[in-house]
Amino acid sequence: MSGETLVFISPSDPPKAWESAFRSLAPDIGFTVSRGDVTPGTRADWAVVWKPPAGALARLAGLKCIFSLGAGVDHVLVDPDFPTGIPLARVVDPYLTAGMSEYVVLHVLAHHRGLMRNLADQAAGRWAPFAAKRADETRVGILGLGELGLDAARKLKPFGYRLAGWSQTRKDEPGVESFAGTDELAAFLARTDILVCLLPLTPATRGILNSATFALLPEGAAVINAARGGHLIESDLIAALDEGHMAGATLDVFQIEPLPGDSPIWPHPKIMVTPHMAALTDPRSTAITMVESMARIRAGGRPLYEVDLRRGY
Ligand code: NAP
Ligand code: GLV
Repeated sequence: MSGETLVFISPSDPPKAWESAFRSLAPDIGFTVSRGDVTPGTRADWAVVWKPPAGALARLAGLKCIFSLGAGVDHVLVDPDFPTGIPLARVVDPYLTAGMSEYVVLHVLAHHRGLMRNLADQAAGRWAPFAAKRADETRVGILGLGELGLDAARKLKPFGYRLAGWSQTRKDEPGVESFAGTDELAAFLARTDILVCLLPLTPATRGILNSATFALLPEGAAVINAARGGHLIESDLIAALDEGHMAGATLDVFQIEPLPGDSPIWPHPKIMVTPHMAALTDPRSTAITMVESMARIRAGGRPLYEVDLRRGY
């Protein structure tokens, strides 16, 4: 590995934490932080990236693998010059998974127990007890039963919710009803009171949280979007909330990030906003997996958690 170089490009991940993780695990690899404004032909063996500028990866020479700094890879595949011949690996990590499940459990409970109503009552100095629905009569549906969706479903089980998930392929998880493919989406939505989106953003899933989807949910449903802003038509959600068909929403991701100050989402009384922090990548833990992938590639193999470019996730 001597003489190898790694280029780190991210507008938001802390370079110092990543540099220190790589220095301790692979001290022979040269670590360079870049804004992505590299000159064509710059040599790099490895690229570790979040939202790299379009064309940046194609300008690097000698790349053996591109590592996404997130579980999602839409931020890389949006680049029209993405070099498709180079393996792309994504983050699958126990701390990321645990963080997402904490977020999902927190917000499913918040919608089920009417937390926003409590907060509004407190702000108004109003003592107004109300009964929450029974958990075993509350139907939670998770769009995407992959690494994150499946773990979230497992961690919701002890609360007694009626659980279901929607994915491309059928799943066999005890206590979680499986719906698969476009043909079963309507039935999945019709049985879902609290909808959680944990899908990858692909051409097939872009805009999936729209007025037609919301109309299929039962009256009083809530939605939690912890996947990507591109999944949600924001104006459709606001209309469904204002008409009273939907009761609430939690949004961690947005069409434009940071969420613009004049967005009607900020002050909306039925929406909880978090700033794309549902699950953050842990540098110490994730660098171990990346270094393991580098060893596999040097030995002629493939990286861990390689993305299937035909599927787009
Ligand atoms: P994953 O393991 O690849 O799982 C994706 C799931 O979505 C799979 O169950 C897959 O079905 C399903 N799916 C994909 N396309 C579909 C389609 N067209 N129709 C039906 N189901 C479809 O991904 P993950 O690791 O769970 O991550 C999911 C997403 O979470 C990431 O892509 C990222 O955008 C987001 N995320 C957000 C944050 C945050 O902080 N907000 C943090 C981490 C990740 P199959 O199982 O049948 O393939
Ligand atoms: C974060 O958004 C991720 O994709 O990991």
